[in-house]
Formats: sequence, structure tokens, C-alpha cells
Amino acid sequence: MSLKSQLNENNIPRHIAIIMDGNGRWAKKQGSERSFGHEQGVESVRATLEAGVELGLDFITLYAFSTENWNRPIEEVQALMQLLVQAIANETPTLMKQNIKLTTIGDVDSLPDETKEKLQECKDMTSNNTGMTLVLALSYSGRWEIVDATKRIASKIKEGTLALEDIDESLFASSLNTDGIPDPELLIRTSGEYRLSNFLLWQLAYSEFYFSEVLWPDFRKQDLVDAIKDYQSRERRFGKISEQINN
Ligand code: FPP
Repeated sequence: MSLKSQLNENNIPRHIAIIMDGNGRWAKKQGSERSFGHEQGVESVRATLEAGVELGLDFITLYAFSTENWNRPIEEVQALMQLLVQAIANETPTLMKQNIKLTTIGDVDSLPDETKEKLQECKDMTSNNTGMTLVLALSYSGRWEIVDATKRIASKIKEGTLALEDIDESLFASSLNTDGIPDPELLIRTSGEYRLSNFLLWQLAYSEFYFSEVLWPDFRKQDLVDAIKDYQSRERRFGKISEQINN
């Protein structure tokens, strides 16, 4: 059965954001190092992207490394950065084949040079792809992004190119890293944790949340379909009442 045929094709989200959690616990269960869990997590990223393309999503945002993840043991941070370099190099041909464009959000300047270079190469190579966009959140946190946007706006005010009255939600949204990217309709977090962990704080204001018990390295296409099925059973009211939505 195709993935689409399990879903209402008229109500598939355009943008799904995912907190990929549980790599460490998955590895521990196997008696392995945490980094083995991250390595296996790349397989789940591959499956998720394939499913996203099959379903016709426009955007998938993955929380790959948070601002707070810098506080992990140095060996794990280095292993994650190395894994990113490797995964990007290995997966770029697949991104090309699947017409996926790579972009990033977060304080990418703070990443090691090799990671930055590989990311830039992949962004350049995929920049003309017109299918789905993969947004990697790297050295990202929602609060950092909001403060960063505030500074940009404040400096425009200071230099006299922006008036206080011009600040509204739309201007603020366009000062965020996600300028031009629609807000996710659906947020998925794996591994049975029920937190936002500083992810897309502004953008998730009206998103539906789906929490899965599956550990990220076990996450496969069907898990994505199950999350979307659950999303399709929700009534999104955006502050209105049910009757207003249904009339
Ligand atoms: C959270 O699990 C996962 C991460 C901090 C890293 C996620 C990164 C990958 C899956 C690899 C990225 C690759 C690409 C190409 C995007 P955790 O370590 O917090 O798990 P735990 O809660 O069980 O300890």
C-alpha cells in the first residue's frame, strides 16, 4: 500500500518539524556507545526524507543540534559534528536525486569549519532543487533566534531605517531564521518525552503536537504516516469554535 493511500490526500501538512530524540537510550539498550545511536539515527533521517518526498511535503525541519547540545561531553559533540560531515557528504547525491533543497537555521557560524564547509557545499549544490526543502536546525534554539531577531530589528530602528510603528507579527516573523518558511502544521517528538526543548518557539504557536514512544533510530516511514493520520483526526480551530470551522 502506498503511503499516500493511507491518508486523506487533501489534508497532508506542508511542513513537519521533528525533534529526533532517543538516540542515546537506543544505543544504551544495545549496550553500545551513544554515538552509535546517532549513527543509526541517520538511517531514520533517510527514511523520513523519502517518506516526505512520497507524501509531497514542502518542508521537513529536523532538530539536529541545539544550542544546549554544546554542553554535552566534548567527545559526543565531536562525534556528532563528524557524523554530520559524513552524512552530508554521503547523502548529497540522494538529495539531488530526490530534488531536495538543503537549508539551515541556527547559529551556523558557531559550527566547526569543516562542518560549515560541507554544509555550504551541500546548500550550494542543492540550491536549484525545486522539491521538498530539508531545514536542518543546527546550533539552534528558539530563544536564541528570538533574541537574534530582536537585535536585527533594534539595529534597524537605531540606524533609522525602521519605525517603531512598523513592528508587527509579520515583520517579526520575517526577522527570524525561518523567514519564507511556513509555520509547521505538525510537530513530532520521538522517545516519549513531552517537551519543546527550546525548538521553534515562535513558529509552533498553532501547530499540532504528536508524541511518539518510538526511539529515533527506530523511526521509519510508517511512523511518519501514523503521525500524519493522528494529525488528520484533529480539529484545528485557531482560537475559533467548532461550528465556525465546520460552517
Ligand atoms: C537526540 O537524542 C538526538 C540528537 C541530539 C542528535 C540528532 C542527530 C542525528 C540523528 C544525526 C543527524 C544527521 C543528520 C543528517 C541530520 P539524544 O542523544 O538526546 O538521546 P537520549 O535522549 O536517549 O539521550
